[in-house]
Amino acid sequence: MKHFLDIHQTEVDDLKGMISAARKIKSARDGKGRAERDADAPLTGKMVALIFEKPSTRTRVSFDVGARQLGAETMLLSGAEMQLGHGETIADTARVLSRYVDTIMIRTFEENTLREMAEYASVPVINGLTNESHPCQIMADVMTYEEHRGSIAGKKVVWTGDGNNVCTSFLHAAGQFGFDLTFSGPETLDPSPEAMGFARGKGSRVVIERDAMKAVEGADLVVADTWLSMHDPQSARERRHNQLRPYQVNAELMAEADPDALFMHCLPAHRNEEVTSEVMDGPQSVIFDEAENRLHAQKAIMRWCMGV
Ligand code: CP
Repeated sequence: MKHFLDIHQTEVDDLKGMISAARKIKSARDGKGRAERDADAPLTGKMVALIFEKPSTRTRVSFDVGARQLGAETMLLSGAEMQLGHGETIADTARVLSRYVDTIMIRTFEENTLREMAEYASVPVINGLTNESHPCQIMADVMTYEEHRGSIAGKKVVWTGDGNNVCTSFLHAAGQFGFDLTFSGPETLDPSPEAMGFARGKGSRVVIERDAMKAVEGADLVVADTWLSMHDPQSARERRHNQLRPYQVNAELMAEADPDALFMHCLPAHRNEEVTSEVMDGPQSVIFDEAENRLHAQKAIMRWCMGV
């Protein structure tokens, strides 16, 4: 059983294999006509369940389109409309769904929900985001960096703002793909100590630098994310904005990075909050390539999970 639950729990060779497969999937698709593309459908006859307990645009559409392009059928399920949202256990849901579908992708709140789903499912389970991690996003981000600049190994990535679930997966990727990560944000929003420990344990240089201008010096990649994640209460909004304003990615900050540095944001972005429109729409930004590469990376992940 091959679940895709987290980057730090997946073998490095498998991760690199998936990135390489994603690149091939993308280039094959770019170079083919529609009839040839449709013939390349290794998941024909398979059913992929896509469960969302939180809102989504990119994850929902890219998994749905990707599964269909591979020949599978998809079933979009909202947590609230399932018995899962009305008291049925995760274990029972996992066992029942496994009788109907060939893969389960779930976006949920607690990491434990994902873990329990994987423990009791007899089909592969894919993490489409939890409060603690977002591995599919970071697979697309590594793919995006490498298609623009070559290997990410040894590069300096700077994460600005909140050390949230996406930052955790970036730290896991730092350890697995061999790059360094500098976190720049307030102490109360520091990244997970376990994730920092994982990256350091694998030999990555993980630095905390409260001064954003110093943090981005010589950076190869600058990353921002929303100041308030989906699981954060709206009541925290004003405090977060006050705390995080010094970490906004703007032209002045990008000027401190390496001249070849890229800018990434997993989206959705709040323009002119965590990042200015000037940077988002500027020449260093690869945000829409990141969004596109969710499609290709997740097709590779689904193929890896289903062994086709
Ligand atoms: N980046 C990301 O996961 O986007 P969605 O929340 O729209 O799926």
